[in-house]
Amino acid sequence: MSDKATLEINGEKYEFPIKIGTENEVAIDIKSLRGSTNGVITIDPGYKNTGSCESAITFLDGEKGILRYRGYSIEELAEKADFLEVVYLLIFGELPTQDQLDKFESDIKERSMVDDDVKKILDAFPKSAHPMGVLSSLTSALTAFYPSSVDVNSEDDMYNAIVRILAKFPILVAWTMRKKHGLPLEYGDDNLGYVENVLKMMFKKPSSDYEQNPILVNALDKLLILHADHEQNCSTSTVRIAGSSHAGLFVSLASGISALWGPLHGGANQAVLEMLEAIKQDGGDTKKYMAKAKDKNDPFRLMGFGHRVYKNFDPRAKIIKKAADEVLNDLGVEDPILDIAKGLEKEALEDPYFVDRKLYPNVDFYSGIIYRAMGIPVEMFTVMFALGRLPGWIAQWREMRMRNEPIGRPRQLYIGATHRPFKSIEKR
Ligand code: ACO
Repeated sequence: MSDKATLEINGEKYEFPIKIGTENEVAIDIKSLRGSTNGVITIDPGYKNTGSCESAITFLDGEKGILRYRGYSIEELAEKADFLEVVYLLIFGELPTQDQLDKFESDIKERSMVDDDVKKILDAFPKSAHPMGVLSSLTSALTAFYPSSVDVNSEDDMYNAIVRILAKFPILVAWTMRKKHGLPLEYGDDNLGYVENVLKMMFKKPSSDYEQNPILVNALDKLLILHADHEQNCSTSTVRIAGSSHAGLFVSLASGISALWGPLHGGANQAVLEMLEAIKQDGGDTKKYMAKAKDKNDPFRLMGFGHRVYKNFDPRAKIIKKAADEVLNDLGVEDPILDIAKGLEKEALEDPYFVDRKLYPNVDFYSGIIYRAMGIPVEMFTVMFALGRLPGWIAQWREMRMRNEPIGRPRQLYIGATHRPFKSIEKR
């Protein structure tokens, strides 16, 4: 492969270096384009062809169905590692030794409380508030309670900010849910692991101890690992771009939470369950909805099917389907919604429309099913996604700051009115 790409504009030739990634991905480096061409820019809405950065965190190949964190396959990590090991791997680049992991866990536990005044902010939200809005606000509010800015040149400073947010975020997640359901707010227990603590803080009843179910702990652990990073997706790019102005870690994360909220991104798992509920209300006829999904005159889409990047299969969906089956069997869940989900999955996998377009169930199809079986309310599904994605956002923010990347500031092609004289109000 040539190491240069040539662009011809108005008979003038310009050369740009070609960069090759460690997985042989090819990129044309157009950093000098605007300067050398006297103002020409590229335009790429949705950034489908634009690399915003060089990153050493996550590799994915949508055609081959490959997802790796720091070189390790998602299949191996989901089977052999636990969430906290993956968190450490994503953020610091290597799997932790036992000593490093023990220290990491105890440093997180040491900070596992939030200022009691945070409860006053939570109290001010109406019960009807969507948990994603509450979570984003509380995450932002943490900046006010822990205002010291992070000196990115100090590993200690960076480490302290990271363990602090990893400790406090699950508490905010649990409190967001408990407040909505009128339950007293819970703290974790230092004798429990990170994921066990999440479950306890979410589900403990005031009148009884919370008994851990290892199948649920394992399923949630896997779900969090599978959601932990996905390279430059919408929310991660948002975190990086917010942080590129040297905004602090917590507010950059709050921006990511807002970006994750939408139904085309993290909100899809909620949309899946809402779709299943609507099908049930309408009599449970899955064939009718399959026909709607295929009808080009009908805007309806089968939520939880298809993916922008994975065009053969979503490797995360394969792993989580197994966990979903385990959870449903173990809990002996009988739920018409889950029967509808299974019906749709079977029909879609055999239907030429879906097969020809390579539309397979994505991770959100199964994650919604597991969350429902676990008793997590639908409006909390995207919050659970945020909990999983937290280490990815942190890792990407840290990488961006450590590489001293410039402020993110795209250009535009202006298509508005050209210069015109001001019209006084009586002449308009
Ligand atoms: N149901 C029915 N038809 C679909 C679906 C679907 N879920 N998804 C895609 N198609 C069809 C399109 O109509 C199009 O058909 P055509 O070629 O006849 O015009 C073809 O498949 C290709 O679809 P695109 O929209 O071009 O695919 P794109 O890559 O842009 O979209 C997306 C991917 C947004 C995920 C889409 O598949 C979708 O809307 N799925 C449902 C929402 C969803 O589950 N989102 C979660 C994504 S995973 C995540 O964020 C973690």
